[in-house]
Amino acid sequence: MRFAKSGVAINALIAVFYLTLLPFVSHGFSMIRIGLSEDAALQSYLFTDEARVGNAAMMLHIFGGTLLVALVPLQLIRALRQRFNRFHRALGAVLIALALITGLSGMTYIPLRGTIGGPVMSAAFFLYGLCLFASALMLARMARIGNREGHWAWGLRLFWLALGSWLYRVHYTLWYLLTGGVGSEPDFSGPFDLVQNFAFFVPYLLAVQLWIIRKRSAHQGVLATIP
Ligand code: HEM
Repeated sequence: MRFAKSGVAINALIAVFYLTLLPFVSHGFSMIRIGLSEDAALQSYLFTDEARVGNAAMMLHIFGGTLLVALVPLQLIRALRQRFNRFHRALGAVLIALALITGLSGMTYIPLRGTIGGPVMSAAFFLYGLCLFASALMLARMARIGNREGHWAWGLRLFWLALGSWLYRVHYTLWYLLTGGVGSEPDFSGPFDLVQNFAFFVPYLLAVQLWIIRKRSAHQGVLATIP
């Protein structure tokens, strides 16, 4: 009964999430369209003429990241995990590949082109990319060796990291709605911007870590779903 209630709550949250995701996905695909156009550099600062590697890395990054955010919540649906376990495993493999691609292309772009917010944003986003990349590798390893606790813990970390880019935009949207943008500057140099460089992933990772410490005893043993 408790499981059924929490399942309904998670499914309702996922439905709300997908509604908020629509503008996010449409922004991602319109950026890719710009990247593929003749005058990409005129339309967005993310692209530059004659910088093919950086431009390609950014388009791959946006493509992989948008799919990652759109697909990752499906792994939370208990009914899908239990009744369609093959689907859960196949989607898991796709998500790990998307996380590796998104992290790696972002970490390629940063040293080549930097970020709009300068060195602090570049360092923070690079750290975010490293966390996403490492979590994807660890999750793949835990699934492969059938470590149930490890799979659960790294899965949770990867889930929140995968949502990071969406959370970043949610933080900004709420802040602008509430305060009109106090402490935020167009070049991302305001105090709010500096905090946000880390606030979309570090606090979530810490909260997840506390959750893992509290609940880990319920997730011991061998993974029931190993191939
Ligand atoms: C997890 C899913 C992710 C999604 C959906 C995503 C999506 C995007 C999008 C749509 C943009 C273009 C922003 C704009 O229109 O101004 C962008 C920019 C960028 N992303 Fe990501 N991203 C993700 C993860 C990451 C990660 C892990 C890194 C770190 C390696 C990263 C680093 C960057 C950088 C450096 C930029 C350019 C920042 C700038 O100067 O404006 N992103 N991303």
